[in-house]
Amino acid sequence: MLPFVIAFELLNLAASLTVPSAPNHPSRHLGSNILPNVITQFPAGAWVENIAVRSNGNLLFTTILPNASLYEASDLDCQSPTITRLFTVDIITSLAGITETSDDVFAVVGGNFSLTTGSVKGTFGLWRADFTRGRPSHAELIASLPDAALPNGATTVPQNNHLVLLADSILNTVWRVDVKKGTVDKAAQFTPESASAAASGILGINGVHIHDGYLWFTNSTATANPDTGDLESSMYRIKVDKNGVAAHSASPEKALTLPSEGMDDFTFGPGERSIKWIAGNVDNQIFAATPNGKYAVVAGASNSFEVATATACKFGRTRRDSHVLYVTTAGGTINGTTEGGKVQAIDTTGFRV
Ligand SMILES: *[C@@H]1O[C@H](CO)[C@@H](O)[C@H](O)[C@H]1NC(C)=O
Ligand SMILES: *[C@@H]1O[C@H](CO)[C@@H](O)[C@H](O)[C@H]1NC(C)=O
Ligand SMILES: *[C@@H]1O[C@H](CO)[C@@H](O)[C@H](O)[C@H]1NC(C)=O
Ligand SMILES: *[C@@H]1O[C@H](CO)[C@@H](O)[C@H](O)[C@H]1NC(C)=O
Repeated sequence: MLPFVIAFELLNLAASLTVPSAPNHPSRHLGSNILPNVITQFPAGAWVENIAVRSNGNLLFTTILPNASLYEASDLDCQSPTITRLFTVDIITSLAGITETSDDVFAVVGGNFSLTTGSVKGTFGLWRADFTRGRPSHAELIASLPDAALPNGATTVPQNNHLVLLADSILNTVWRVDVKKGTVDKAAQFTPESASAAASGILGINGVHIHDGYLWFTNSTATANPDTGDLESSMYRIKVDKNGVAAHSASPEKALTLPSEGMDDFTFGPGERSIKWIAGNVDNQIFAATPNGKYAVVAGASNSFEVATATACKFGRTRRDSHVLYVTTAGGTINGTTEGGKVQAIDTTGFRV
């Protein structure tokens, strides 16, 4: 993980990234004894889409392909963590965003999706995975999403955790689900509001998270930089109230532009810090960006499998791994070799320089 140390030295992120418990020696010696880098590797064709972390430190992750499964990774401090498939929702093909709604209860969105034909409007729903009475062996439907075209990223409204927001990547709608009542409405509608995007395969809003009173979202639509011609995509923010709703007349402001062909999900951290860690999807990279817009590539490269087709990331929740960024990926084909998706651990301790 040496390259990030150099990148972060250049960015002088020392102040914002100080990790109190971090030993003061080079990052390449850290982590390797703490965690295996690859938590689990799936066969070719498997697409791991999103991740949540339980309060006990176990990881939960969803698959879009080959089926709609929720997995749990436990024993993360062992050389080979235990991977358990908790359930597969058999009436749909794919699970996407996952978010915790109350202690050890998670909501996960899913529906029918295929890489060749896209998503099927009317098949999506929000499901509950409840760990309060042990490991769930099935998902309970919270609400159907009949008007959603491709609900993708998911997040919980911090002050009202019975409210879940879902980013619809085709309609650019933020759907809001009340997980107690099972009701669905719109928290925000951005432009373009386009059903024809489904045919073109262009994705808009993708990851969504509320931070400091704003709803932040990535926009996977890349455009050419007017000066360099290189593709770039942006993250936006819009003020929302305690119910997760954007003011009627408000429009989102562009907060960050990266040389990314389509940003996917992201997270803030580590801990209470406001650094954004962004999965670069087709870039095969993870970016980190400071509140003032400085950024660095912290893992991966266009021709590397390290975080190939990175889809989402989350920090660990225990003392042992609160500085470890867990990344889900969909894999891909590089130099004629195809790998499936995986869950990869990235020790960010070395960013303190
Ligand atoms: C879902 O896919 C996984 C990974 O390939 C496989 O192990 C599992 O048996 C599948 N489940 C069902 C119900 O098809
Ligand atoms: C969604 O996928 C499931 C599982 O493959 C299938 O049984 C179901 O018919 C599909 N629904 C629609 C509306 O295509
Ligand atoms: C996403 O980016 C595209 C290209 O810049 C832009 O046209 C679109 O309005 C953006 N969508 C949102 C919701 O900001
Ligand atoms: C692919 O080939 C390029 C150029 O030879 C090389 O730099 C890169 O490491 C290769 N990547 C993989 C995953 O084989």
